[in-house]
Amino acid sequence: MTDTILAIIGGTGLTSLKGLEISRREVMHTPYGEPSGPLTHGILAGREVVFLARHGYSHTIPPHQVNYRANVWALKHAGVSAVVAVAAVGGITAEMRPRRLVFPNQIIDYTWSRAHTFFNKDLTHVVHVDFTEPYDADLRRKLIEAARTIKIDAVEQGTYGATQGPRLETAAEIDRLERDGCDLVGMTGMPEAVLARELELPYATCAVVANWAAGRGEGVITMDEVRENLDAAMANVRRVLEATIKA
Ligand code: HPA
Repeated sequence: MTDTILAIIGGTGLTSLKGLEISRREVMHTPYGEPSGPLTHGILAGREVVFLARHGYSHTIPPHQVNYRANVWALKHAGVSAVVAVAAVGGITAEMRPRRLVFPNQIIDYTWSRAHTFFNKDLTHVVHVDFTEPYDADLRRKLIEAARTIKIDAVEQGTYGATQGPRLETAAEIDRLERDGCDLVGMTGMPEAVLARELELPYATCAVVANWAAGRGEGVITMDEVRENLDAAMANVRRVLEATIKA
């Protein structure tokens, strides 16, 4: 990825990026309000990257309160050329077991009342972006190839169901998501992905399965279990990111 300045949006379990040699922090103000925090510029695996913690560096912003427009706009205007979103998810279908990495290829959006477009007002014409393939094919391929090269156990496709949160789902809701074709469930995949598309920023997700989704595992979902699984899987996320950058 020689000419690419990669942005990494870190989700739950990734509020800082180990190995990142930080050069500066940049406070951005956007027409859409404040991003989740300053952008962290630095060098990872020998190349310039920009890191942003989606939920804030102290993990205090819940999924439905994230200012997705400000985050994506800030990254675009900081000059990044692609975005890898790291996202904790619940696993619905059999392959999506906790601690696995997944590179989803499709999305179903169940979120509501989030600011989900840049094309809202003061328009000279109505804009409908194509979203047939919600993730950038080239960036997905790079992530998948990096994971293969370093022999990380990852699932190379899947449909991400984006729910509103912040509560977790009911078992019946997960059954419905599975009937709809979802393999994974998370609360932050949308509108982040479509906003990146609207600004023509190549965007792909590295999902990390934090737990079996509601009704798919044993008993209730605990935050301890989520934390443990994410802690265990994040080393692999970092390795994939570094291998992607180096490729
Ligand atoms: N549901 C929604 N979002 C999530 C989950 C889940 O089970 N786990 C991690 N993020």
